[in-house]
Amino acid sequence: MKAIAVLPGKANSVHLRDIPAPKLGDQPHPHVCKIPEGRAVLVKTLQIGVDATDREINEALYGNAPPGGEHLVIGHESFGQVLEVGSKVTEVKPGDYVSCTVRRPGGSLYDVIGRNDITGEEVYYERGINLCHGYLTESFVDDVEYIVKVPKELRHLGVLAEPASVCAKAIEQAYLAQTRLQVWMPRRAFVLGAGQIGLLATMMLRLRGLEVYTLATRPGPHRKSEITEAYGATYVSSKQTSMADLAKQVGKPDLIFEATGNAEICFRAMEVLGINGALIWTSITGGKHDVSVDGAKINLEWVLGNKLLVSSVNGNRRHFELGIQALSHGELTYPGVTSRILTHPVAGLDKYQEMMKLLEEKEALKVFVNVAG
Ligand SMILES: NC(=O)c1ccc[n+]([C@@H]2O[C@H](COP(=O)([O-])OP(=O)(O)OC[C@H]3O[C@@H](n4cnc5c(N)ncnc54)[C@H](OP(=O)(O)O)[C@@H]3O)[C@@H](O)[C@H]2O)c1
Repeated sequence: MKAIAVLPGKANSVHLRDIPAPKLGDQPHPHVCKIPEGRAVLVKTLQIGVDATDREINEALYGNAPPGGEHLVIGHESFGQVLEVGSKVTEVKPGDYVSCTVRRPGGSLYDVIGRNDITGEEVYYERGINLCHGYLTESFVDDVEYIVKVPKELRHLGVLAEPASVCAKAIEQAYLAQTRLQVWMPRRAFVLGAGQIGLLATMMLRLRGLEVYTLATRPGPHRKSEITEAYGATYVSSKQTSMADLAKQVGKPDLIFEATGNAEICFRAMEVLGINGALIWTSITGGKHDVSVDGAKINLEWVLGNKLLVSSVNGNRRHFELGIQALSHGELTYPGVTSRILTHPVAGLDKYQEMMKLLEEKEALKVFVNVAG
């Protein structure tokens, strides 16, 4: 069957290759974890989302092949339909729509207790990213432990399950950490970035009843500003109003969700957070970027204001479930809005070069491959 793969360590090596079709009895990651007897699920791939991570893996910035091989099948944002289940699987059945989590457990205590999303190990095993093959292929097998059901009525948004899990986890982490305050009722949030992560975070914070201001660079109106406003949030162009000016105009935020991919913005956000507030960092910033801030001022304000920085990456099955619940709630509350994030479909695995090219496209909010109908 067809798969889109790279040769890790070799830049621009993305290619289409033929790999054996998986069977229910296969062990997809024998070097990491074993599927217990009867607990495997075979999934037909329907749609796979791609993002900057896939581009960076193709640029050979990171990513490794599973041991003993030279290639890595990429793609970590999965959506498919169950074809076959093992004799001890009760959670899903053939025909169900599903997504599959990304990280597989290593050996740390966190991995052992099911929190592989916060593994204590330096080496992590992620499908389509590091040491485990991904989902840009026609079918895949995994342990039902990592398979998350998507309601049939939400299948048009199923490919957003993984990015939604990232946002749902990050927000939940902030709320959990803020229980330190005993009472925390955030009213105002700034979301920095209006890409897929910023927009899904905007929706989730609106669903929690916050007044949300979502910042990106370009002045509206355009699709990102329209989606933001359709969620009942306010879109702000940082070219027209800086974050600091916005805070002066509307008040300092109790919560900031940072998702611009820009290291300077990560630190500038520290200058505007309100007292007792939480700043969430989700950006993954590659390369080197020196940033100059008034460290003494930030330190003083953060200590005297009891402010909190929460960093968050990845998500386990519970976060996928939370993300899917938020997508469902969002679809009922703001019908048809979230599907506007799905801007650039690619017709089939053969079009892998078009897929890579679209990842450079400024207007592309979400590029995804329609693997099967
Ligand atoms: N933690 C995790 O598990 C996780 C998972 C997935 C992604 N990420 C990271 O999350 C970040 C966002 O991902 P994405 O896919 O949503 O990215 P994206 O599509 O590239 O969106 C980035 C957004 O940030 C805005 N932006 C960039 N620089 C800015 C600046 N200086 N001031 C204000 N806005 C700025 C962009 O504005 P314009 O729209 O005007 O261009 C855009 O709206 C990335 O760093 C990604 O690596 C993290």
